[in-house]
Amino acid sequence: MSKNILVVAGDGIGPEIVAEAIKVIDALQAEGAIDVQLHHALVGGAAYDEFGDPLPESTLTAAKAADAVLLGAVGGPKWEPLPIAKRPEKGLLGLRAGLELFANLRPAILYPQLADASTLKPEIVAGLDLMIVRELTGDIYFGQPRGIETLPSGERRGINTMVYTESEVERICRVAFEIAMKRNKQVCSVDKANVLECTEMWREVAIKTAANYPEITLTHMYVDNAAMQLVRAPKQFDVMVTGNIFGDILSDCASMLTGSIGMLPSASLGASGQGMYEPIHGSAPDIAGRGIANPLATILSVAMMLRYSLGAPDAAARIETAVSAVLDQGLRTADIMSAGMRQVGTVEMGDAVVAALAEAR
Ligand code: NAD
Ligand code: IPM
Ligand code: MN
Repeated sequence: MSKNILVVAGDGIGPEIVAEAIKVIDALQAEGAIDVQLHHALVGGAAYDEFGDPLPESTLTAAKAADAVLLGAVGGPKWEPLPIAKRPEKGLLGLRAGLELFANLRPAILYPQLADASTLKPEIVAGLDLMIVRELTGDIYFGQPRGIETLPSGERRGINTMVYTESEVERICRVAFEIAMKRNKQVCSVDKANVLECTEMWREVAIKTAANYPEITLTHMYVDNAAMQLVRAPKQFDVMVTGNIFGDILSDCASMLTGSIGMLPSASLGASGQGMYEPIHGSAPDIAGRGIANPLATILSVAMMLRYSLGAPDAAARIETAVSAVLDQGLRTADIMSAGMRQVGTVEMGDAVVAALAEAR
């Protein structure tokens, strides 16, 4: 039976990179490898401009009805003057919360062809295969109280609150442990338990939950050290599990190990098989509209979508093989360009992946 994909391209480079991902979906559909129907909706700044709301009810309803959501990116300088509640980013956060997508998988895998594109020495990153499991619907992103208040003195005070319940920590740890069981069985839980009670509890719950997974080796690291270790010796990690804000920051950091933030896909999953799939990067206003953005993170997000939500692991593997083949051909967008390679734009990169798909069987 045909599966429904809701496409929300968003802002900035969002529509440019999503167009290339759709080409890949269309190519697989045309040859009968998958059976999907695409629907489109607005989110972020694009939705605000049209409806005065970064997450219109119609978009959330369509997202809930879909088997999977493919998202580009949201945000941009145009909407920065808006209050937080109307900002494009609120649309994305509303989708994550509304669909209860608490588990965000951000795999940082170095394609060997890109060892030279990383800012780190090739031997530091060669063979990198790290899975960051980021909690996505809790933490300081959603904690109460929040806001800006004016004190009697007239001075303002800004407030956000880091909050986790035990069950929220337990379920994200379980996701990390399950993933690690299919990998090297090493999980590093990242916290700030030396300072923040919320993460002191996180650590306790992680340890308690690990008792159900005797084969897993659970270690703990403070987030500041984890950031340093990621650039010092990233291959020490197999699976990292952490909260929403730490995971946001660490995954951008990890992306550079793979050559570019334009390479990192993600899957956001809940308790059902439904998921939302998006590159980890943003709307890149500095390069939007120039046709130079790297579409590979979005294309690789389609592979994750096929694997995790649409039951099409073979098609997913073919996309990944096609991406590798295109890199073998020496094609590079500007962000992953290195000496001796051929620089291409967004569209040419997408076309090359589609062409390589035919060979990748
Ligand atoms: P960003 O990820 O958009 O860009 C950071 C840098 O990486 C920029 O120099 C950009 O050109 C580059 N970059 C990002 N994606 C790229 C790609 N595919 N190919 C080549 N280069 C790429 O982060 P930012 O500049 O801090 O944020 C810009 C806007 O995006 C903000 O409004 C922010 O809130 C939003 N944002 C959205 C998401 C999302 O939708 N998931 C994620 C992060 C940031
Ligand atoms: C990401 C982004 C988002 C986040 C923003 C745009 C809300 O940075 O997907 O990594 O902080 O989660
Ligand atoms: Mn981010």
